[in-house]
Amino acid sequence: MNGRRPLLAANWKMNKTRAQARNFVEIVRQVVSPFPQAETCICPPFTALGAVNEGIRGSGIALGAQDLYWEKEGAYTGEISGPMLAECGCEYVLVGHSERRQLFGETIADTARKTRAAWDAGLVPILCVGESFEQRRSGETERVIETHVLEGTAKLSAGEVGKLVIAYEPIWAIGTGLPATSEEAQRISALIRGLAGGRFGDPVAAGLRILYGGSVKAANAAEFLGQADVDGALVGGASLDPTEFSKIVAAAKV
Ligand code: PGA
Repeated sequence: MNGRRPLLAANWKMNKTRAQARNFVEIVRQVVSPFPQAETCICPPFTALGAVNEGIRGSGIALGAQDLYWEKEGAYTGEISGPMLAECGCEYVLVGHSERRQLFGETIADTARKTRAAWDAGLVPILCVGESFEQRRSGETERVIETHVLEGTAKLSAGEVGKLVIAYEPIWAIGTGLPATSEEAQRISALIRGLAGGRFGDPVAAGLRILYGGSVKAANAAEFLGQADVDGALVGGASLDPTEFSKIVAAAKV
């Protein structure tokens, strides 16, 4: 036992209305609540945060957001701050998801600011890192992971990193139905833990939770969760179906 509680996080991306979110939570909370061994977190779109927050009350399921802006308030049309998310009941927030980086031009420096802002608002950042297909093909995976991990955590103290969540999400595995192998997920998770240990000390690295994300589904979840350095999963497509997602959470129990 390493003392790290597995975390299964649902990233709905730009999916589900409030009504659909309510329906999902009603089903999932019945299945998931009796499994205290694992922690479950749902990250709906901003518009459904309230509906999910109401639905999960008393279930032990946590609420997360998919992004935040690093300023607390001001003239930033369209943006949402950490304190606003905390007020909505969020405990977690995704930071630096590859879709933010690839489609919306988010840089590593932005990610580092957002990670800092999340902690300042009392939110646990789920820092997403991962290489593209081209980077992988040209042998740059390790270098990319090192940059994402060390620069993404540059504004955090050692104590904060010990409570952080890092999600290894190879871009080529996201939404493709072609996940990394569990050996690859383990290898990169161990690399991430080693990087954190080198920068912040081994006791800090030992507390850090590392998730795998990229085409996780009920049929392959247990294999990833069985790896020594993989402490959970960040699930996109398969998290939209309540039965499928419940099975993924249940996989953490065995
Ligand atoms: P996927 O997405 O499970 O649909 O591959 C994972 C993610 O982007 O977080």
